[in-house]
Amino acid sequence: MDIARTQSALPENPEMADAAPEPRAPLLIRREDYTPFPWLVPEIALDFALGLEKTRVHAALTVQRNAAAPRSESIRLNGDGLTPIAVAVDGEAVNDWSVDGGDLILPLHGDSHLVEVTTQIDPLANSQLMGLYASGGMLCTQCEAEGFRRITFFPDRPDVLSTYRVRMEGPRSQFPVLLSNGNRVAQGDGEEGAHWAEWHDPWPKPSYLFALVAGDLVCNRDRFVTRSGREVELGIWVRESDLPRTVHAMQSLKNSMRWDEEAFGREYDLDLFNIVAVSDFNMGAMENKGLNIFNTKYVLADRGTATDADYDAIEGVIGHEYFHNWSGNRVTCRDWFQLSLKEGFTVLRDQLFSAAMGSEAIKRIEDVRVLRSIQFPEDSGPLAHPIRPDSYSEISNFYTATVYNKGAEVIRMMRTMAGTERFRRGTDLYFARHDGEAATCEDFVRAIEEGAELDLGRFRLWYAQAGTPKVSVAMDYADDAVTLRLRQLVPPTPGQPEKQPMPIPLRLALFDRESRAHRGEELVVLEEAEASFRFTGFAQRPVLSINRGFSAPVSIERRVDPADLVFLAQYDDDPFARYEAMQDLVVGHLCDAIGGGLDDAGMERGRDAILQAFSAVLADDGIDDLMRGELMILPSQTYLAEQMLVADPHAIHREREGLKRWLGAKLEAQLAALHDRAGEAADDTSPAARGARKLKTQALVYLAAGTPGHAAQRAAAQYDAATNMTDRQGALMVLAGLESPERSARLADFYDRYCGNALVIDKWFAIQAQSLHPDALAHVKALAEHPDFTLRNPNRVRSLYMAFAANPHAFHTADGEGYRMIADLILALDPINPQTAARFVPSLGRWRRIEPHRAGLMRAELERIAAAPGLSRDTSEQVSRSLA
Ligand code: TRP
Ligand code: ZN
Repeated sequence: MDIARTQSALPENPEMADAAPEPRAPLLIRREDYTPFPWLVPEIALDFALGLEKTRVHAALTVQRNAAAPRSESIRLNGDGLTPIAVAVDGEAVNDWSVDGGDLILPLHGDSHLVEVTTQIDPLANSQLMGLYASGGMLCTQCEAEGFRRITFFPDRPDVLSTYRVRMEGPRSQFPVLLSNGNRVAQGDGEEGAHWAEWHDPWPKPSYLFALVAGDLVCNRDRFVTRSGREVELGIWVRESDLPRTVHAMQSLKNSMRWDEEAFGREYDLDLFNIVAVSDFNMGAMENKGLNIFNTKYVLADRGTATDADYDAIEGVIGHEYFHNWSGNRVTCRDWFQLSLKEGFTVLRDQLFSAAMGSEAIKRIEDVRVLRSIQFPEDSGPLAHPIRPDSYSEISNFYTATVYNKGAEVIRMMRTMAGTERFRRGTDLYFARHDGEAATCEDFVRAIEEGAELDLGRFRLWYAQAGTPKVSVAMDYADDAVTLRLRQLVPPTPGQPEKQPMPIPLRLALFDRESRAHRGEELVVLEEAEASFRFTGFAQRPVLSINRGFSAPVSIERRVDPADLVFLAQYDDDPFARYEAMQDLVVGHLCDAIGGGLDDAGMERGRDAILQAFSAVLADDGIDDLMRGELMILPSQTYLAEQMLVADPHAIHREREGLKRWLGAKLEAQLAALHDRAGEAADDTSPAARGARKLKTQALVYLAAGTPGHAAQRAAAQYDAATNMTDRQGALMVLAGLESPERSARLADFYDRYCGNALVIDKWFAIQAQSLHPDALAHVKALAEHPDFTLRNPNRVRSLYMAFAANPHAFHTADGEGYRMIADLILALDPINPQTAARFVPSLGRWRRIEPHRAGLMRAELERIAAAPGLSRDTSEQVSRSLA
């Protein structure tokens, strides 16, 4: 289905709309309803007869009564879109089974049985990319969260742990490589060009960690020796032509394995560790035991086609999936409400790993930027939920920035309060106590509490309450003493009208204005709704630096003299606090400007303060270019909108661009000199060279705003001279926003140069969809008709439409055309890939926080989606929660 056609498929009158079938009432699953499964499944043997369009699956389950659960005279095996071809119990064919909502229900009266079920599936027709599916001629699986039930009937829940034996057979020419979890224990030839392999995974695991891959792949092989001397064979499997681009992923993997031994005492536990890269994938990657499956985007890189940011993202995701081997696989989740148990903890682990591999300061700033631009809006909108949700209808909708990134922040706060060493004692206890179990968030908190000797009594509220706390700060100074009065407010969120105060750890420092030094950092914990903290011995009023390192995921509200922010932007010794002072300075000014509350003199004062801080940043020899680049980044439009009760996207865009233009013009000479200086830097992967590249493109961004004509020439020159993707993409991004002859020539050149490299063509789509060009919306419309665009590949869909939905000036056009395009996309994509379709709903769901005219248009599009017949559970849950 194409996008244009869905519009005319709309019911033209209300009667027709009424006649459409009601969307399936979304069944709510509740955390408090958890009950253990009545049966254990200690072993499963799977036998696959592989074919792209026809795969036959035979599953043999050893089942035993679970003494810890109420007795049942039947077993419910989850299924989704499956028909049982044959069912047997203890070797005898049976037909007294029934089917209920896709599940297979089988009477069972003894204490232990062998249950065998045969199913047949069509991987080529699987466009949802959940279960067993085809991608570029190969077969692969994605089972988290509930994909295993699309392969065979099984208790598809994370608290049922089994050891897996997997046999697969298929044509050798089509599937020369046959992989599954664990170790390969046998292989051989079959009839008529077929071959087979048998795999065994000794570690009991839930079904969501099962994986199988069959295809024509080549392998980058390496070895790793663990600290206790175990030799591990490492393999990264890709299409033959991609092999040269696996070097960085392999290095990242080895670094991850070493780091987890050192930082968390975690050692790898199999003789084999495989990674497979797949170009059709719903998310970033998946931690299947011993057989991680990755989106190609997070594996493949070389200097000519991947940016510095791509290299960092690969390192982070490789680390993330590897770290799941302990935080997720050895200790897994009892139920999906506990998702943050593995995801929050693993995100924290990958953040600490990336910080250790590169710059801790930069990593922290980047992580906070992501949190604020994605998680904060989630937490203040209709889809807000605690990091441990209470209910869901479709679990795929809860793989969110809240569960992942806020989840990581919550655990990071425990680490901040305990200190690194005591926190490590807590995690050691957690792994020792729960190894081999399906655990809960409460289990984790209790282990940290005991191991780290930390009272986390009321801290548990962070797991239960949604919403970003607001902390207001007032500072009094009298008679040598500073009194800080802190107050917290956790805002109401859907289903949680009233909140309790939560313990909030705040790192702070008080700076002496003359010496520009402080006498040591303090950690205060705001336990109650309100508290005062007194510090004595100050000869004059100090400058307060608070929430240093972003020690708590809160928003700080305080009135600060812009001069103090300029001071902190220049002299704070905490890099995050320095960045924060710059952000606060700009946010304060832009909010005033957007609110229309600035006269000419006020405008001038605000801009001058920013100019002063900027000039200092540009000239400061005390910081490196990576940090300089960070400090130059203006707060995003999303973050600015977040500061307002009701936002006018047009006004935010106008004022933010206005400031950029003004700074670009004022600082033209310095920025041009900076761009020249950075252009001389070496072209390697050293921090200095990376910093220079970051700076080059940042300088262009401002120059393009201030003096577009000159900037276009500079950007074109940077593009033409580029010997790496960072410089080339940066230059093209700037050019894409300008109306200049250089623009179209370079866009065409980029396409021709990289045509055939899907990941780079994704960049080509995204650059245009993200651009500041006044016709960006029309460009996106045209790109949707481009022969390289397809709704069947999630990377391509995201590169065009996620980029567009995150481009405020294009998405929020006053006529509502951007909203209509995203709604059309959701309707067209939903029948193909509901999980990916549902991810676009939040962009429309923010309507209550947008000015009334646009809010009405956004809401109307949500209603149009809601009225469509046959909507998936994924999309209907997100849409109905957005309208509620
Ligand atoms: N567990 C994966 C991770 O965080 C996430 C994931 C990969 C996923 N693929 C998915 C979640 C598909 C839901 C559906 O690393
Ligand atoms: Zn994860």
